[in-house]
Amino acid sequence: MSISHFRGTDVPTSSVTEIPVKVTSQSLKEKKLSGVPITALTAYDYATARMVDEAGIDLILVGDSLAMVVMGYESTLPVTVDEMLHHTKAVRRAVKRAMVVADMPYGSYHTDMAQGIANAVRFIKEGGAEAVKIEGGGNRVELVERLADAEIPVVGHLGLTPQSVHRMGGYKVQGKSITAIEKLTRDALELESAGVIAIVLEGIPREAAQHITSELSVPTIGIGAGPDTDGQILVLHDLLNLTFSPQAKFVRQYADAGELFRNAFAQYRRDVEARTFPDEKESYHLTKETRAVLETTRVARRKA
Ligand code: KIV
Repeated sequence: MSISHFRGTDVPTSSVTEIPVKVTSQSLKEKKLSGVPITALTAYDYATARMVDEAGIDLILVGDSLAMVVMGYESTLPVTVDEMLHHTKAVRRAVKRAMVVADMPYGSYHTDMAQGIANAVRFIKEGGAEAVKIEGGGNRVELVERLADAEIPVVGHLGLTPQSVHRMGGYKVQGKSITAIEKLTRDALELESAGVIAIVLEGIPREAAQHITSELSVPTIGIGAGPDTDGQILVLHDLLNLTFSPQAKFVRQYADAGELFRNAFAQYRRDVEARTFPDEKESYHLTKETRAVLETTRVARRKA
């Protein structure tokens, strides 16, 4: 049994008195118009999503990066709709203010339009997401329009799109030539006309991201795209150093939770092995009277 089983009984929980102002697609757009940066992070579980939300981050993406940072796969490709939904529900339960966006995983919208719409509906209806994210440009226009018809807000994703890893031949910076920048800009404008509420720009040169951002009226949210996008997003595990491979150039590590966790686990092991955990204060006790009865019973049993 863990401490969480006692919640609501003898463990005090913080009382939330303030009602936060909900982030909406309109407020994201207002931030672009007023030049106030949009803040975004990924999260995949109740505890971290709650802390991210309480820190005032505007948008929480239940990213398919889940496949790599939580599930240990080498790419984002294997994660399924059901697995993504499981985590989206946990995040939903934690978040009061931020906009919750669910990533549509590879294969959930690539083969069949009707299936793409049905899967997106699941993220809204079952997962409680307020928008879905899909990767791709002009080839996703019809899907974005159909999702808008189904009342589902969509976030686009251009540049280094991890679901295209095999087509790209690896995780490589995109948009390095004029032709490539023109194509990305066309894709972004087509997504905007189709009705996306924002576009993630990943792994492209700063100048390309700045150009695309200036062409759009919907906000751009960058990752590895320099400082001139309308907002920034990072993968939570990168920011906290909870990954096991060298960090990409664009990652800034804000805390070394990896080191903190390792030290805590090692100390716990030492304490258990030395029988210094749990101590008296961390144990429940019988009343004096019951203890005496127990002792008498034990003595009597030993004699018998
Ligand atoms: O899945 C993810 O975490 C993402 C971000 C990198 C934007 O798509």
